[in-house]
Amino acid sequence: MKKVLLPSLLSADFSQLDKELKTIEDAGVGHLHLDVMDGHYVPNISFGPGVIQKLRPKTQLFFDTHLMVEEPDGFLESFREAGCNLVTVHLEASTHIHRTLQAIHALGMKAGLALNPGTPTQALAYLMDEVDLILVMSVNPGFGGQSFIPSTLNKIRDIRERIDRSGREIILEVDGGIKKNNVEEIIKAGADWLVAGSAVFSPGKTKTNAREFLEIFGRY
Ligand code: DX5
Ligand code: ZN
Repeated sequence: MKKVLLPSLLSADFSQLDKELKTIEDAGVGHLHLDVMDGHYVPNISFGPGVIQKLRPKTQLFFDTHLMVEEPDGFLESFREAGCNLVTVHLEASTHIHRTLQAIHALGMKAGLALNPGTPTQALAYLMDEVDLILVMSVNPGFGGQSFIPSTLNKIRDIRERIDRSGREIILEVDGGIKKNNVEEIIKAGADWLVAGSAVFSPGKTKTNAREFLEIFGRY
């Protein structure tokens, strides 16, 4: 599967979001990661469907939305209306995760399932048929700019094997602490989609940062 870079909007300058989007599009980026935080499931608040809806007409980017929201079921429709292409929910945040994943599909969006660093991979066993993407958190969710947790590499390998055994084309996404100097080992462990926030968005350097990542991805 082609490697995909997903800059995380969380690290962008919120006072000029459309300009930030244009910069990454000009660099050749096609996907955007949108971190939605509710202040309950994670100790931070970011933005919600209202902001996403306003951005939708300004860009062609694929909207990959990562909900760090407790009991997300009641919000799913608003993210569909906001124009999200894919919605990822946390295994740990939904009481009936199987139902939540089915509800995302019923709304016509792709469904992703996120696992926190401390969550075992066995939890995936009976959910493989319900997901289009598995998101491996390589930091504890809530903030950009944290360090990659090294034990995640084994977890990525484990999930890569599970996906390959399933015979399904499930995307393996990794999120948190990804930099130019560790991205290759993460790709080699089996990641398909790689989220990078603070390593992409930086005043005056965003386009160069994105291009440098894309150049590395071109080797795989
Ligand atoms: C953390 C978010 C990540 C984060 C990534 O809760 O899910 O997407 O913004 O930021 P960096 O790349 O700075 O770790
Ligand atoms: Zn994220």
